[in-house]
Amino acid sequence: MFSKVPGPIGVFDSGYGGLTIFDKIREILPGYDFIYLGDNARAPYGPRSFDVVYRFTRQAVMKLFEEGCQLVILACNTASAKALRTIQQKDLPEWNPERRVLGVIRPTVEIIADITTSGHVGILGTTGTIQSESYGMEIEKIFPHIQVTGEACPMWVPLVENEEYDSPGADYFIEKHVSHILSVDPAIDTLVLGCTHYPLLADKIRQFVPEHVRIFSQGDRVAKSLKEYLLRHPEMDQRLTRQGTSRFLTTEAAEKFSETATIFLHDPIQVEQISID
Ligand code: DGL
Repeated sequence: MFSKVPGPIGVFDSGYGGLTIFDKIREILPGYDFIYLGDNARAPYGPRSFDVVYRFTRQAVMKLFEEGCQLVILACNTASAKALRTIQQKDLPEWNPERRVLGVIRPTVEIIADITTSGHVGILGTTGTIQSESYGMEIEKIFPHIQVTGEACPMWVPLVENEEYDSPGADYFIEKHVSHILSVDPAIDTLVLGCTHYPLLADKIRQFVPEHVRIFSQGDRVAKSLKEYLLRHPEMDQRLTRQGTSRFLTTEAAEKFSETATIFLHDPIQVEQISID
């Protein structure tokens, strides 16, 4: 269904948050070509149902495949939690079994036992990611001795999107959720930022967390895991083009995306507005 000509790596997020992952991937794989797609017109995905997140994510992946991507990273925890498995198991075999779609939850889970000493881990995420219980289920499969507690933080994405992440107003919502999760399980020694927006809140979160509790951002880990994946899968690596280019696509206004993207990437970028539904 899709062409077999070598192409870029696709990176998808509901909006801007995936840029925190994209930035790390580009840093570790600088020679490769990338297309980043943000479905900003329909973000946030966090409060949406399984069916809707799956339908939107499927459309985005199809678009990136149409644009020639051979491999797509769902740089969004909500999409990874609610859509990845169905796309991998149902859609890919029909579309083209040689293409790949990978998420951000599995790479994080794989190293969780190296991070926690107490064996008690907290996951901070959107309502959708926490309700899906994806982290708990994935961790249970590999490390059944680790106890997982989830905390939905529905106001955190709007704080970042509205550039209020460093404001005094952010303190209230950050303290509220951090104190709650640590009261539910005081033995937690690792808090996973299970949403791609949250690394921008890391400094603020630190202020409300005891010193021995580690705050884990996924970007470096997801990037390293992708590099390892390409080493293990030379057949995929050979199908990726390498001219060091990055294209940015959004379903909302291009100017708005390029303006807000500077919070995440620090440099100005060229953006194209597209439609995916
Ligand atoms: N990027 C999403 C995630 O990592 C959060 C933003 C949204 O709710 O759409 O879960």
